[in-house]
Amino acid sequence: MKLVPGPASIELASKVSSMLNLKLTELEHKAFPDSESYFRYAESVKDEDVVILQGTHPPQDKHIVQLCLLSSGAKDLGAKSVVAVVPYLAYAKQDRRFKEGEVVSIDTILNILKQSGVDRILTVNVHAPWVIDRSPIPIENIDAIGILATYILKMNFKRPFVLAPGKKGEEMCAVAAKVLDAEYGAIKTRRDVNTGAVEISLENVNIENKDVILIDDMISTGGTMVKSVRALRSAGARRIIVGCVHAIMIDNADGKILSSGADTIVATDTVPNKYAFVSVAGLLVERLLRL
Ligand code: R5P
Repeated sequence: MKLVPGPASIELASKVSSMLNLKLTELEHKAFPDSESYFRYAESVKDEDVVILQGTHPPQDKHIVQLCLLSSGAKDLGAKSVVAVVPYLAYAKQDRRFKEGEVVSIDTILNILKQSGVDRILTVNVHAPWVIDRSPIPIENIDAIGILATYILKMNFKRPFVLAPGKKGEEMCAVAAKVLDAEYGAIKTRRDVNTGAVEISLENVNIENKDVILIDDMISTGGTMVKSVRALRSAGARRIIVGCVHAIMIDNADGKILSSGADTIVATDTVPNKYAFVSVAGLLVERLLRL
């Protein structure tokens, strides 16, 4: 097996490499003056099972193209198989046609990856898990909510209550609440398909004087979290811990969340970020060994 460190996920690839006791494949990478990516496999991948670790967080388009180049290049050089480990899979938010005429981006991305020689995708908390059933490539989706909650558990709570926004919220809460031995509920959200603005509502949730662990699969602009944190503060929450798997954090999202009243942010390292106190490397290694 060859483990190829994609430029988007060098640090995570190094962790996986040391856990597997497998050295990283030598790869020459540079950017041409016009910023196009150049790659050269500096060691043979012929007849090898190649694992490429490359997240597709921002800049998504660039990271996806790099993944395609690495995958098709490996196949062109005789690789037996390619597994793409994509800790954050981009474009999964556009998983359907919300408005007439829209492009269903995730389907296109998965088709492009297939055409580029990817045989299997290993990802973490894919935003729209229902795309797995219709994907042209087998996708293994790893849930990191459990390890996130295990880390949060160390933070001594008074009457912990787990909440999460959106339709996958209750499912995520159930997983985290089990680890934290906490009560849980869900926050209803409604997103405007034109503006992207989100409305939230806290219904039948009593969090007065409780420590709230607010989790989500991802934080992008932070809009959902800021609104949730404000609502929780008004409802009398004691401490608010924000946890997410994918900390995309566009436009100072973290600053906005903290200044809206959250006490702490905890994230995983699927996307390089300063709140990555929890590593998904162990989960990836476990799954790779099973493959
Ligand atoms: C929605 O379905 C997700 O779980 C997140 O709540 C959402 O993607 C977060 O986006 P933003 O940070 O831009 O509000």
